[in-house]
Amino acid sequence: MHYRHSIPTVVECGTGLAGRAGEFLKNWGAKNVFVVTDQGIRNAGLLGPVLRSLEEHGLKYDVFDKTVPDPSAESVMEGLEQLGRQPHDHILALGGGSSIDTAKGIAIMAVNKGHILDYEGVNKIPRPGLPVVAIPTTAGSGSEVTASTIITNLKTSFKAAVISPYIFPKAALLDPALTENLPQELTAATGMDALTHAIESYTSKTATPFSRALAIEAVRMIGGNIRKAYFVGNDLQSREQMLVASAMAGMAFSQSRLGNVHAISHTLGGVFHIPHGVANAALLPYVMMYNLPACPEKMKDIAEALGCRVDGLSPTEAGERAVHAVAELNRTLNIPSNLRELGVDLKALPKLVEDAMRSGNVLVNPRRTGPSDIENIIRNAYEGNLSS
Ligand SMILES: [Fe+2]
Repeated sequence: MHYRHSIPTVVECGTGLAGRAGEFLKNWGAKNVFVVTDQGIRNAGLLGPVLRSLEEHGLKYDVFDKTVPDPSAESVMEGLEQLGRQPHDHILALGGGSSIDTAKGIAIMAVNKGHILDYEGVNKIPRPGLPVVAIPTTAGSGSEVTASTIITNLKTSFKAAVISPYIFPKAALLDPALTENLPQELTAATGMDALTHAIESYTSKTATPFSRALAIEAVRMIGGNIRKAYFVGNDLQSREQMLVASAMAGMAFSQSRLGNVHAISHTLGGVFHIPHGVANAALLPYVMMYNLPACPEKMKDIAEALGCRVDGLSPTEAGERAVHAVAELNRTLNIPSNLRELGVDLKALPKLVEDAMRSGNVLVNPRRTGPSDIENIIRNAYEGNLSS
């Protein structure tokens, strides 16, 4: 087996780093920075200190604060239009996965011709984009260290993955203080997105020893810290562990890709606008149960990493503990345990199945998966049936 492990993004981690963004960008050669963020980040008071730091270091900047959830091709092109009004040499993304994915799309389109959706798929981008520095404000997407951006095609409600080594951010600044005041439901949804990345990456058919090491440690860190981050909120230590684990899971899945949870959750997001992390969390136990026969030893590892007692159990029995531990975690974090509660309508099943099968993530899912399997997983997740 031939595999490569490449993580070109420089990661700086520490409390207060966001307020030093100007210092880092200046050292990296920036002079004129295009800042991509959203109104929520501005209103939460997170943008001001970053802009002050740019000013203190003599950097020019322009702010695009119209990032939308599940960023569309149109929102990327709108940002691109604003970027084109004056020369910029770096893009600074401040926000959750949507802001970072939008920034990555703008960065690529600043240099390449055509439309962002022309580049759907793997390795379709001809030239590197503008350098992106990402400052995540949630511990979830891992987008600050990944080679992909997810862009919604509003005409087809399809979330397209654009994947290329040219999309890796140049640097990520991980500042746990930015996540201290995250609302509980966002801590839960984004944290479960990160856990899904870690679990899907660990069991992916294309996982490597490098990616598995990052993924299983991320499972351990998220399992050990998500409750405290959710219930206490301003506990910096658990917030830091979540932020680092989220980036580690991102590093893992940018090598291994993901699996059936993301194949299905992207279509649930595109069609029903269910928040990405919530859709993942609700689907995760059902996909784990489906995958269990294909990778019981790895599921046992996940059970151990989540703190389950597995002494004397067979790998399959231990793997079932992992499935139920994730379902229990959803309950603790007040995330619905079935797709019915999330407003999914099974009339859309043919489109959901077709779009999920179009995702490259199905190909690396540990258990062989065809359209009828996707349909069964969705039906089980809809009914809350964890028995098969
Ligand atoms: Fe995700």
